[in-house]
Amino acid sequence: MSDKHRKTIRSFVRRTGRMTPSQKKALSELWPIYGLEFTSSPSQFDAIFQMPQPIVLEIGFGNGETLVEQASQNSDQNFLGIEVHDPGVGHCLLKAHNAGVENLRLIIHDALEVLEQQIPEASLARVNLYFPDPWPKKRHHKRRIVQPEFVELVASRLAVHGTLHIATDWADYAEHIDEILSHSDRFSCTHRREHDGDQPLDRPRTKFEQRGLRQGHRIWDWCFTKSA
Ligand SMILES: C[S@@+](CC[C@H](N)C(=O)[O-])C[C@H]1O[C@@H](n2cnc3c(N)ncnc32)[C@H](O)[C@@H]1O
Repeated sequence: MSDKHRKTIRSFVRRTGRMTPSQKKALSELWPIYGLEFTSSPSQFDAIFQMPQPIVLEIGFGNGETLVEQASQNSDQNFLGIEVHDPGVGHCLLKAHNAGVENLRLIIHDALEVLEQQIPEASLARVNLYFPDPWPKKRHHKRRIVQPEFVELVASRLAVHGTLHIATDWADYAEHIDEILSHSDRFSCTHRREHDGDQPLDRPRTKFEQRGLRQGHRIWDWCFTKSA
């Protein structure tokens, strides 16, 4: 992704949510265990994780409950989470510590810059993008993270046969995702489901998914496989 393009996508607003004292404490005491600082050159993940295993990246993990659950259920994989919302990271650190997971690392930074600069090419087995900010107003659609350049960037960071999993509860964003991915020759759609929260592909329900379901939204779930 060119710098020019990246500057036009700012897929998040840094919310100044209040941190609870335990989240603050987690950020100072548990960050040295689970945290990875952003670097502008590719990281050596084999030296960062305890075991050399396939790496699953979650972009925008929110409060991290789904991420920690997946990490604790899949000890044969390494999990990397990227989020910009500090209270969510604090929450995730507490959950990770309570669950005793060792195969998880977190980065607090813009995921687009991390993908571009810190994640080596062909290094990921899977990328999860669960309930990305929908930016519902038409004039904000350009801020949606799923854009042709994002799809291209993710494809370059995935290993052969790597997968991209996306879920949303916004009908209009679902159409946008179908449209963008159908024009990509880097991925083929291996699963697509539209449901009422009763048939997620292979993930625990996320916080934003539960919120969407309470509001009567439907859920769209995709798995895209990187083309050979
Ligand atoms: C709607 S929330 C969904 C959170 C979680 N995945 C869930 O389903 O509960 C989207 C999250 O993505 C994060 N986010 C958006 N753009 C991001 C970016 N470029 N880098 C890192 N995090 C980002 C936001 O801070 C927010 O927490």
